Amino acid sequence: MSASNKDSDQVAANALSADFVEKAVAAALAAFDSAKTLEELKAARLAHAGDKSPIALSNREIGALPPAAKADAGARIGKARAQINDALKVREEVLLNEEESRMLAHEQVDVSLAAQTAPRGARHPLSLIMERAEDVFVAMGWDIVDGPELEAEWYNFDALNIGPNHPARSMQDTFFVAPEDSHLVLRTHTSPVQARTMLTRKPPIYIAAPGKVFRTDELDATHSPAFHQIEGLAIDKGLTMAHLRGTLEHFAKIMFGDEAKIRLRPSFFPFTEPSAELDLWFPAAKGGAKWIEWGGCGMVNPLVLQACGIDSNEYSGFAFGMGIERTLMFRHTVTDMRDMVEGDIRFSRQFGMDV
Ligand code: PHE
Repeated sequence: MSASNKDSDQVAANALSADFVEKAVAAALAAFDSAKTLEELKAARLAHAGDKSPIALSNREIGALPPAAKADAGARIGKARAQINDALKVREEVLLNEEESRMLAHEQVDVSLAAQTAPRGARHPLSLIMERAEDVFVAMGWDIVDGPELEAEWYNFDALNIGPNHPARSMQDTFFVAPEDSHLVLRTHTSPVQARTMLTRKPPIYIAAPGKVFRTDELDATHSPAFHQIEGLAIDKGLTMAHLRGTLEHFAKIMFGDEAKIRLRPSFFPFTEPSAELDLWFPAAKGGAKWIEWGGCGMVNPLVLQACGIDSNEYSGFAFGMGIERTLMFRHTVTDMRDMVEGDIRFSRQFGMDV
């Protein structure tokens, strides 16, 4: 027998001794007990229950015993290992519970704390007044319709009796869209929706068409290159200027209150005949009550009815269009157009918006 074999026999004998096993168990239990965290317990488990632990060494040595001694040693070591593993489990349970309580305490929600609120945003006053205007017409049984902002020149001008060389064409400073032969413009008013509607619907027609329009104006206190209008169109049998007047008066009173009045002044638009400038009596104007220009209107020109396939002997109609920005400015004494387009929430807040 070699010396090294002798040594290992010695270790084997020791590792199976009652003293060695007792000490291994005691050391393991002490180590588990003193582990204060799951992390520490893991280290203790490796040292006292892992492959290289004393008790594992004892376990391995059983195999080398003569068969007669195996049963006794197996039972002893088995009991010791069970003791170690049970202690490990108990400690693990305790530490897991502790960890959980710590976490619960740490992650507790204080429902009495003030909530952090992110601003919700709000509708723009222009959108709201536009909807209010739509509501007036919906309440009268009119339809709300839409038209494209990028419009064919034909609808924006020709269909409305504004021929290629008509002076009115240059009255409206138009954004033409390249290339020239696309014959597209950014619509200069909502009136092309009149033509689109007459071409696709059969009378009686009662529609309102709010939307964006564009003109080559510089942005200043009273102008904007992009603004909004609301168009109205009624086509039926026997409609007269009186119906137009009554409709506008009703619209004005709902938008501006019972004391509101309107006035029609003779004017000219190629697509209405006769045509009128629509003024609004504005009692709350700075510097005293006065008439202010609100929009244009008139009886639909029979030439337009014909261009849109409506028999002008059977039907007549009226139309009107007014600026939404102007409406908001009068209604709320906004003196600078720029306030409406700059998107400063301090402006919206003045309208009671919760932003
Ligand atoms: N489209 C005209 C404008 O923008 C207004 C208008 C609409 C006039 C309908 C008459 C009838 O000035």
